[in-house]
Amino acid sequence: MSQLITILNGPNLNLLGLREPELYGTDTLDDVAAQCQSVAKDLGLSTELKQTNHEGEMVDWIQACREHSAGIIINPAAWSHTSVAVLDALNTFDGPVIEVHISNIYAREAFRHHSFVSTRANGIVAGCGVQGYCLAVQRIHTLLS
Ligand code: DQA
Repeated sequence: MSQLITILNGPNLNLLGLREPELYGTDTLDDVAAQCQSVAKDLGLSTELKQTNHEGEMVDWIQACREHSAGIIINPAAWSHTSVAVLDALNTFDGPVIEVHISNIYAREAFRHHSFVSTRANGIVAGCGVQGYCLAVQRIHTLLS
């Protein structure tokens, strides 16, 4: 069976495609899921994509990855800048973690320049649009190989 990569998305990303399209583009999370699945399949991996607006649910999902996922791709959205709980949960996971931001957080407001998650991430993709998720799948493949 192929190794599973879990792609986790934080608050407000359920509105991807509708929300501030000038910053985040017009692709939806379903589009992202399909693009990642296609890239992953070519690499012999499989993907599941999830989104939540609830921090505790995100922590539960990260903990569950210990049981069934080889790697995590996470766009923590606003929790990047606020959540020690999400960071602590990621620190319980042994596999590779790639942090994705659709926009270039370093070209935006100062409060977006710090991410708690970055201290755990094996790599960070920011400002590449939704293509960043596919780049993260490729990177996880390299890290698992
Ligand atoms: C984001 C950047 C965050 O600062 C913001 O809170 C988001 C999305 C991005 O993908 O660019 O919700 O993570």
